[in-house]
Amino acid sequence: MATRKKIALIGAGNIGGELARLCANKELGDVWLYDIAPKENYAKGKALDLEQNSSVLGYDSHVRGTSNWADLEGADVLIITAGIPRKPGQSRDDLVASNLPIIRDVANNAKKYCPDAFAIVISNPLDAMVYEYKRVVGCPKEKVAGMAGVLDSARFQLFLAREAGVSIKDVRAMVLGGHGDDMVPVLSACTINAVPITEFIAKDKLQSIIERTRKGGGEIVNLMGTSAYYAPASAAVAMAEAYLLDQKRLLACAAYLDGEYGYKDLFIGVPVVIGGNGVEKIVQIKLTDEEVAMLKKSAASVQAVVDVVKKTPA
Ligand code: APR
Repeated sequence: MATRKKIALIGAGNIGGELARLCANKELGDVWLYDIAPKENYAKGKALDLEQNSSVLGYDSHVRGTSNWADLEGADVLIITAGIPRKPGQSRDDLVASNLPIIRDVANNAKKYCPDAFAIVISNPLDAMVYEYKRVVGCPKEKVAGMAGVLDSARFQLFLAREAGVSIKDVRAMVLGGHGDDMVPVLSACTINAVPITEFIAKDKLQSIIERTRKGGGEIVNLMGTSAYYAPASAAVAMAEAYLLDQKRLLACAAYLDGEYGYKDLFIGVPVVIGGNGVEKIVQIKLTDEEVAMLKKSAASVQAVVDVVKKTPA
């Protein structure tokens, strides 16, 4: 008999709760919300609220809370938000000290209980945390990706749509590179339903949209006092759905590079195809010289954080 897919969400906080809501409502599988022991009841309470919600909205997914990794055994998908979010004035890189021990704890348990899961890392600093996750678990590069590009691209697309005065549905744009202030919004690949964006928006305005995109997460942290959660959760669910339903979607994700774009042993945001085998392909697009230079700067920023991670004893 066919069984439902098992989706394990590590961290039952703001993003974790929204992830659970989306996964259950889309009936992607049965959902486990995991959090540390002091927050077990919080995870269980959130899960129960979402189960009761199923009666109103009419979905059959089960949602359960736990602080016991054994409950996550054999999960098909693992989405990791465990960690401390940013506060106003902090950069994502400022979170290494707090979040590195957490991602190591998560990865050690994932290695034991669900090493075959397709893992999507959201915890920041994203590119370094996903690197460390893969290193500890030792999973194939196809089975792990970081969620940043889908979110950064969504922010870019929104600002472009509003400025151009067109529907968000018709804007196509991608943000590559690391999930930090040096990220690379790719203007050369940006269109409104195949019409070049420069037909709609002047160059200087485009530049200010790029700047706003780069600081898109910080803008929300300054307003709310903590980091965003609706769009980050939707972005990760788009990746999980692509895997679970073998959609072969082309999405910007932090993927493990082994020579692609000229980088090795590094996770940064690139266009990938996600299907039933995970990250099935890294798509190498032609970038302008300016974009290549921006990617180099962004990759150097990521490498600097990864170097700190590598030097930090377990
Ligand atoms: N294992 C599992 N969960 C953990 C662990 C751990 N070792 N350590 C902390 N957590 C849990 C916390 O108890 C908390 O419930 O992670 C949860 C994080 O939830 P929030 O504080 O609400 O943070 P959130 O907004 O969801 O962001 C989480 O995603 O975008 C990134 O920068 C953000 O790194 C942060 C992460």
